[in-house]
Amino acid sequence: MSTLIDGKALAAKMRAQMGEEVENLVKETGKRPGLAVILVGADPASQIYVRNKEKACESVGILSTAHRLSAETSEEELLKLIDRLNEDPEIHGILCQLPVPDHICTDNILQRISPQKDVDGFHPINVGNLVLGKECLMPCTPAGVMEMLNAYNIDPEGQHCVIVGRSTLVGKPLIQMMLNKNATVTVTHSRTRDLASICCQGDILVAAVGVPELIGRDHIKQGAVVIDVGINRREDGKLIGDVDGVAAAEVASYYTPVAGGVGPMTITMLLKNTIRAYKNAYGV
Ligand code: GUN
Repeated sequence: MSTLIDGKALAAKMRAQMGEEVENLVKETGKRPGLAVILVGADPASQIYVRNKEKACESVGILSTAHRLSAETSEEELLKLIDRLNEDPEIHGILCQLPVPDHICTDNILQRISPQKDVDGFHPINVGNLVLGKECLMPCTPAGVMEMLNAYNIDPEGQHCVIVGRSTLVGKPLIQMMLNKNATVTVTHSRTRDLASICCQGDILVAAVGVPELIGRDHIKQGAVVIDVGINRREDGKLIGDVDGVAAAEVASYYTPVAGGVGPMTITMLLKNTIRAYKNAYGV
């Protein structure tokens, strides 16, 4: 029997709790949490993500301000805006939606955002603190994965976690999060030989590679927990993950669906980080 990990329901529950927490904190501090979202250019997927982030903020009482800049915006102008937001006491969280246009250096942008306001957890200070196992703002998607496991009482301690994908946004931070929970971690990627034989050793298998249904029956150990971070759009418009969902439902003990799995948790963790940054700012 396989249990579906319902990210949508968990996200809704967490957002309801956050909404209450925010109202209590506003009474205490006299200030409302504020998130600045920067979007450079008109990439259609990024526009949808930014709109969803704005809506999510609204749903829990966080004030969001979107800065929609033209694709021709120079790096200097963008850095100036970040400097201004870093200084703005009404803004507790800042994120710049990625990717930025090619003429802008992503690292320069991410490093300019104050680590205290870096609600994406991408600043090298936050990355370093994560590696050291210290308190920090953590990248939202892998943090959402950990939150789902916790909600379903799945303890990574002592378990073999196999991660497929080594991206900066998901795979790499997830290595640290799993290690910090005392899992034994194996990371696989596009150059890994005999992927299936490694994946099927995983008690927890996380696919975050962006290849539609790469992970099939041969990759999944009987009774494993399977987390699918992939969101791929098929030619007919349907969303599919990095895992063959039918195989996961048959072989896994727990698995996340696409959609309604990891996806809704990512923005929820952004809200959580924004509230964390706001609380840190007021020492509450
Ligand atoms: N683009 C895709 N995922 C993300 C994310 O988590 N944060 C930002 N800032 N941009 C993204």
